[in-house]
Amino acid sequence: GESQPTICGMPLKYVSLVTLAVQNAALSIVMHYSRVSIPASEAYSPATAVLLNELLKGSISFIIALMRVLNSSDAAGRSMVGFWIAFRRVCREVFSVDCWKLSIPAILYVIQNSLQFVAISNLPVATFQVTYQMKILTTAAFSVALLRKRLTSNKWLSLFFLAIGVGIVQIQSTAGHAPERPNIPVGSAHESAPLHIHIMSPLKGFGAVTAACFTSGLAGVYFEMVLKNSKADLWVRNVQLSLFSLIPAALPVFWESPYPHSPIDIMSNLFRNFGGWAWATVSIQVLGGLITALVIKYSDNILKGFATSLSIVLSFLASVALFGFRITPSFVIGSTTVLVATWMYNQPPGQELISITNVMPR
Ligand code: C5P
Repeated sequence: GESQPTICGMPLKYVSLVTLAVQNAALSIVMHYSRVSIPASEAYSPATAVLLNELLKGSISFIIALMRVLNSSDAAGRSMVGFWIAFRRVCREVFSVDCWKLSIPAILYVIQNSLQFVAISNLPVATFQVTYQMKILTTAAFSVALLRKRLTSNKWLSLFFLAIGVGIVQIQSTAGHAPERPNIPVGSAHESAPLHIHIMSPLKGFGAVTAACFTSGLAGVYFEMVLKNSKADLWVRNVQLSLFSLIPAALPVFWESPYPHSPIDIMSNLFRNFGGWAWATVSIQVLGGLITALVIKYSDNILKGFATSLSIVLSFLASVALFGFRITPSFVIGSTTVLVATWMYNQPPGQELISITNVMPR
């Protein structure tokens, strides 16, 4: 098929998988910190973050699409007229007849990105990450249903091990450290908790994370389906995705703003308490969105699950090296399960038996 693009001589496929792994580890930490370390009265609006995410991602994707057209055209592309022609061409592609296909993943991703805020504000980071691993299984299920991917029972088994392995790794990372706040049973301990601190509601958190696993699997696979069933440029697809996201993302912003909706009221309400941590969260999310798109194009959603699982193992090892975390037996068991699952998934079909017996010809 198509020749694999490279970046600095390395295949984009692997660069994007590794970058996504690092991005994933950073996001849950920064996002959780941005919500939980701040008194509830000074919290920023998640709706603003979700909206900004789409605006920034859409704009960056548009610029990349434009630069690709300019680079592919001849010297005329360097002039003002050439720029205008390229600009109009990208706009025409964005508003092409099949752009509506992106409306489904767009709405799903907006719901998912909002649910993620609910989940991460109501669960400890590790608990959130453990339960969010269920998306490995929902993604595989939707890949089979929508993309007609064929998974051998061996591959299903390895996906199952992957989810369990990540769970074990993360359960030990919660158990090994003092919780950042005392565990507060829902509705009972308000008296003992300082009033200015955000109070978590685990049930709400688990509900949100479960729903997010379904939208993650469905939206990712749907985007993959649209991308791989047509020739349209990845970046144009991304602009379409962001454009369709703007409507559902903007609704809660209007909903939350004081009445009457004067533009000044809306703006000041939008950016209330929107400080450095909020901007850091949005920036890492934007980066994540762009890399996710690359991963879906050059690999697929199932491989994306492996990349993020390995990231959890790597970020723990980094903590061992940098912060003196101790390696525990459950970390060894969990990460071994992840590595074996990865190896197992990547066995070529039909080879499983051979690699065990190593004697029988096929
Ligand atoms: O957890 P999951 O990997 O499903 O998250 C995907 C994230 O990537 C979502 O936040 C989504 O908004 C983003 N994304 C994107 N552009 C794409 C595909 C995904 O911004 N083309």
